[in-house]
Amino acid sequence: MSDARVRIGMLGAGFIGQMHSLAMRSARYTRLQPAIEADLVVLAEADAGLAREVAHRYQWRHTTTDWGVLPTHELDLFINAGPNHLHRAACEAAAQAGIGLFCEKPLAPTADEAYDIWRITVRHGVLHRCAYMHRFIPAIQFMRRLVREGELGEITNFRSSFLLDMSTDGATSWRFDRAKAGAGAIGDLGSHHIDVARFVVGEVVRVSAMVASRHEGANDDAAVVTAQLDNGALAVFDVNRVSPAHDLSGRIEIDGTRGSVAWHMQRLNEVVIRKPRQGARTEFVTRPEHPLEGFWLPGGIQGSHPLGWNECFAHQSRDILGLAAGQLTESPAATFEDGYRVAQVVDTVLEAANTGRSIAVDYRPSPAAATVSGSAADR
Ligand SMILES: NC(=O)c1ccc[n+]([C@@H]2O[C@H](COP(=O)([O-])OP(=O)(O)OC[C@H]3O[C@@H](n4cnc5c(N)ncnc54)[C@H](O)[C@@H]3O)[C@@H](O)[C@H]2O)c1
Repeated sequence: MSDARVRIGMLGAGFIGQMHSLAMRSARYTRLQPAIEADLVVLAEADAGLAREVAHRYQWRHTTTDWGVLPTHELDLFINAGPNHLHRAACEAAAQAGIGLFCEKPLAPTADEAYDIWRITVRHGVLHRCAYMHRFIPAIQFMRRLVREGELGEITNFRSSFLLDMSTDGATSWRFDRAKAGAGAIGDLGSHHIDVARFVVGEVVRVSAMVASRHEGANDDAAVVTAQLDNGALAVFDVNRVSPAHDLSGRIEIDGTRGSVAWHMQRLNEVVIRKPRQGARTEFVTRPEHPLEGFWLPGGIQGSHPLGWNECFAHQSRDILGLAAGQLTESPAATFEDGYRVAQVVDTVLEAANTGRSIAVDYRPSPAAATVSGSAADR
């Protein structure tokens, strides 16, 4: 089978732009066939020095400080790794040029903007995926399988906390600026776990919430949200971005009538399973036959080795490359519909916190579309 190639332009060489550069490069080295080469054509980054450094490290062929001049006719895929307020304009330009879109989360600072981005991409019939990367963590896929196969019985509770410490950023980062970021901790961190709840258990239908901020004039630093999912399960989302004792702490626990499964980000490859009257047992998910077994090296021949965060990003990259190359039709990756729906939940959380009410999430209908693309081959 001959190799495929996807020509990529990207906006942003900050934290996540560097991660995507690394992950897109490494995605070439999977055992999955055909091999798909990420051709890193052009990197648009406002800081010219950073652009040069990152381009040299990951072998981007060209750089520009102006994303508006990307040579779209030479590209198959646009990665939007810029701050949230740049997602709409840059995605719109790429969609108009007929290029596939892979946009960072949250899809936009507000649900209105996120809906617009979804609507525009549907109108242009281009590939659209949103970078909710937890979907590519083997343990999260494993939990999803347990839930779908009924191993835990009827799901009654989804419990999450996502805590880290951005205090050194202070109010200097765009993340603390409501106009640029939209919501704070609940949009940045909470959106990941809201998407996991949707991916693993079900849609969020109702929320109530309290939020707190330690920075004058900034968006929320912390939030506690209670929610109901569409199967009736209750959910709790606890997020805090200025939690000095937590360098990076992400916990998810799902309870059902016949069992419970728990995961902690710092023990990426393990889940703890509880069954009635059997206590808890820890299961290592990257053993042979795990959800992404065979992606890298044959599982089990030399024992079962753990995977890391970078590899989970590469799982996501290979999936996006496969879609853009027309090699994949099925994908666990979040679409812009998912991106919009999470943004709608986040906006409803803020409304619930401001009003002190419990509010049903009012999702807008799918934009009318002649074609909703699954891959570049559909263009
Ligand atoms: N999926 C994840 O796990 C994950 C993790 C971190 C960040 N993110 C998301 O990725 C996006 C970027 O976050 P980040 O942490 O990389 O931020 P960052 O501040 O580290 O990087 C953003 C980069 O964009 C550049 N930039 C800003 N305006 C520009 C412009 N007009 N033209 C060109 N470049 C411009 C900045 O110079 C900066 O280098 C956000 O949407 C964020 O929520 C996702």
